[in-house]
Amino acid sequence: MDIGIDAIGFYTPHYYVDLVKLAKARGDDPDKYTIGIGQDQMAVAPATQDIISMAANAVDALPSARLDGRLGMVIVASESGVDESKAAAITVARLTGLNPWVRAFDIKEACYGATAGLLMARDYVAAHPTKTALVIASDIARYGLASGGEVTQGAGAVAMVISAQPRVLALQDDAVAYTEDIPDFFRPTGMTVPVVDGHYSTAAYLDFVTKIVGQHQVQYHDTITDYAALLFHLPFTKMGKKALAALTDSVRLGQRLTAASQLSRQVGNIYTGSLYLSLLSLLCHDKTMQAGDRIGLFSYGSGAVGEFFSGILAPGFADHIGQAAVIQLLAEREELTIPAYEQMFNAQIPLGDAPAAFPPENSPARFTVGGRRDHARWYRDTTKSMTEGD
Ligand code: COA
Repeated sequence: MDIGIDAIGFYTPHYYVDLVKLAKARGDDPDKYTIGIGQDQMAVAPATQDIISMAANAVDALPSARLDGRLGMVIVASESGVDESKAAAITVARLTGLNPWVRAFDIKEACYGATAGLLMARDYVAAHPTKTALVIASDIARYGLASGGEVTQGAGAVAMVISAQPRVLALQDDAVAYTEDIPDFFRPTGMTVPVVDGHYSTAAYLDFVTKIVGQHQVQYHDTITDYAALLFHLPFTKMGKKALAALTDSVRLGQRLTAASQLSRQVGNIYTGSLYLSLLSLLCHDKTMQAGDRIGLFSYGSGAVGEFFSGILAPGFADHIGQAAVIQLLAEREELTIPAYEQMFNAQIPLGDAPAAFPPENSPARFTVGGRRDHARWYRDTTKSMTEGD
């Protein structure tokens, strides 16, 4: 029985910064950002988007018929959540009107969380083939104004329906995971930006990718030439190039990685969703991919957990990835000047539970954060005339 990704929905905030302009504002050579790091633009989340509203907007981008009564599990993976206790998945399920007869919970392990969710969902459907699961990766990557990591910020969410007879990617039962306790990136409770050593993290990532893919080859007797494409977690797109170079000098895989990096170049790092944004990018931008092609996916979450697994493209996959909506979402975005970005960056809802209220967001997003009342955040839904805040 094939089990895997049946549909993909994507959301990124309405605002972005041109990184050539950011480089000039920071006194850096723009080539460092666009070539050295491999980023062109980065999404900027206004105070009216958090990981719950972004996740709900990504679910809203899925065909609603895929979220029927068969749904049995809803997982949100995030490393930028808004509550220490309550799962974002519960609020996302309510906002998007999902069937309440589900298990809803969150997963955290830096940028690896969505992979844990995806493979857990695969096992769930294997045990209950008539059921489906919804896995949503949602994150806002913030490193701080004028920080070393600033150019690798971003924001967005990817929602995936997992089912038997998947119409996008059949996940193979070949995952190899590796865990090692290292201090490359972490965010102690109460801090709004992470403690990160980017160069150490890059070296750890490369160590993990060679070790894990090597182990996969030992366990499953495969070689790089078995793959039509290799995808990687992309904290910045140069990282994918470094990872591929550590494994192979294949020109064909290099071209496919370029296609798989296009959306990340425009959106930036979306942490746990980045690997799946890369899958979406490959399927949107490389018209030579075909049903039956094997794709290898490498997931890395600082701290650190890495996992490599593969999937086989399903016939008609292009009809189930919401490509037209992805193109429209990006085309409608609004560029921010650097001062406007800095102002938006600093205008976040404060930590804690003090009341807050925001005017409606001037964007096509269906779900936005309305504010905070009675200690809890409330959300606007543009399809409803009355909102939670009224
Ligand atoms: N033209 C072209 N390339 C240039 C350049 C120029 N003018 N100036 C620098 N570069 C290249 C460098 O050679 C380097 O490439 P290399 O890594 O292939 O050698 C790259 O640009 C980055 O330069 P570097 O000096 O290393 O930049 P930095 O010290 O500002 O650090 C990051 C870059 C990505 C490490 C930093 O932004 C960061 O820490 N980001 C967060 C990463 C993260 O989130 N990690 C955890 C998740 S996995």
